[in-house]
Amino acid sequence: MELIKLTQQDTKYDALIIPFGKAMELAVSIPEGIASSVDAATKAGLFKGESEEIYKLSMLWEDKIVNVVLVGLGEEGKADNRSVFIAFSKAFTACRDLKAKIVRVALDNAKACAKDYDIVEKICEAALLANYQFDCYKSEAKINTVEKIEFEASFDRFEEALKEAKICAESTTIARDLINQPPMFMTPAQLAEEAKTIGKKCNMEVLVFHKPDIEELGMNAFLAVGKGSVNTPKLIVMRYFGGRDNKEIIGLVGKGVMYDSGGYSLKPPSSLPTMHGDMSGAAAVIGAMKAIAQMSLKANVVGIIAACENRISGDAYLPGDILKSMAGKYIEMNNSDAEGRLTLADAITYAIREQKADKVIDIATLTGAVITALGNKTAGIISNDDELTKLAEKASRISCEKVWRLPADRELRHVLNSSIADIKNSAMGSSAGGGTILGGLFLQEFVEDKPWLHIDIAGTNWAQEDLPYCIKGGVGFGTSLLYNMIKLSSK
Ligand code: BES
Ligand code: ZN
Ligand code: ZN
Repeated sequence: MELIKLTQQDTKYDALIIPFGKAMELAVSIPEGIASSVDAATKAGLFKGESEEIYKLSMLWEDKIVNVVLVGLGEEGKADNRSVFIAFSKAFTACRDLKAKIVRVALDNAKACAKDYDIVEKICEAALLANYQFDCYKSEAKINTVEKIEFEASFDRFEEALKEAKICAESTTIARDLINQPPMFMTPAQLAEEAKTIGKKCNMEVLVFHKPDIEELGMNAFLAVGKGSVNTPKLIVMRYFGGRDNKEIIGLVGKGVMYDSGGYSLKPPSSLPTMHGDMSGAAAVIGAMKAIAQMSLKANVVGIIAACENRISGDAYLPGDILKSMAGKYIEMNNSDAEGRLTLADAITYAIREQKADKVIDIATLTGAVITALGNKTAGIISNDDELTKLAEKASRISCEKVWRLPADRELRHVLNSSIADIKNSAMGSSAGGGTILGGLFLQEFVEDKPWLHIDIAGTNWAQEDLPYCIKGGVGFGTSLLYNMIKLSSK
């Protein structure tokens, strides 16, 4: 889809989006016939400009039907970025449903509500995200996508916002594609190929380590998880050095469990069909690395993915096994479904010891418990560092992906004590609760003394139904969040 700033006034369009604040009047010039209908609708109280309100009108304009979508942004100056993002996503989705091919956005009508660079950027991103489809396996009846969106916008830095939006949205949609591909196709080797292709395109070094290399590195916890699959594990490392030589190195570690059957601690049938989404953290890291490189951020970042499949076979790891992690800690593996933390523990050690990361941010579909705690629109964050937490919260307000900090409560830590090894991978049998916190506490054992932030996206990575900004399936949650964290930290 093409996204442009309008320069020529007299072009034709199929749909017109007009944003309004509450009780705001039409302030831009639009064709007389359309303007009178819009006025009539607002005067009749059919549309009030409330936050996230949408009103659709279809009318005859010259010789064809034109659809007008009014978007409510709520009280002037009070709208938060996410509600503006959602309101526009709804409007763009409405245009798709109305089979529009060319959409005009009279963005200047809401100058008072959407005046900051970040939100203008996010509105452009909404246009691209709402248009996303994953229909490569649909032989017929493909859903309409918009071909062109023209913005009437007189913001100073609009072109700049548009460029950033295109890069970020493309990164999120690449993450969605990686998640949505079925597990028979998206194996660890395939993910490594995808990362390499992106690396080539963005001039970024991508290293792929195979099983013998991973054995050499001593990443036995990671290897154990992938042991039951014929599709062998791959360690994927994406290196971007855009900052000064002496500047800190940030490690972005993404959970890359390409399929999580649960292993011998088998998941119930209803959980299985979406478990190829257990690499959503990896997808977010790959997407973010692409955006970081394309925007030439002044930062040094290493993306690390320990990609493997958690399957059952004669060679799969067994609950009861004791694993020696790369860091040298022995792990009593009592639940093969708590596999993500095993792969991440070694990936974090690798980030710190081999890639010299000064700070570590990990992103993972780690626990079902985070859905119970925060619902499916907010990711849980756990950290040993207040500065890194503030950075995540600030980036989250820009990226419009919600996060909420949970405590790294040391008082819960003892439930992971093992009688035969250094630590257990799950608190099975304990009624302490706090599953998400325990996942975080387990990972914290491997961060040595480094500032670290963990993002649990098990609730937010997958849309169970169509959302205004994302069709059912992979969301690509965290791509923009990670990108914005690096952008903020590079300033
Ligand atoms: N991949 C799952 C977490 C998950 C759950 C992701 C629901 C998406 C939706 C993870 O590997 C897992 O199974 N976690 C266990 C941990 C437990 C055994 C300590 C869980 O949440 O039950
Ligand atoms: Zn699992
Ligand atoms: Zn998992």
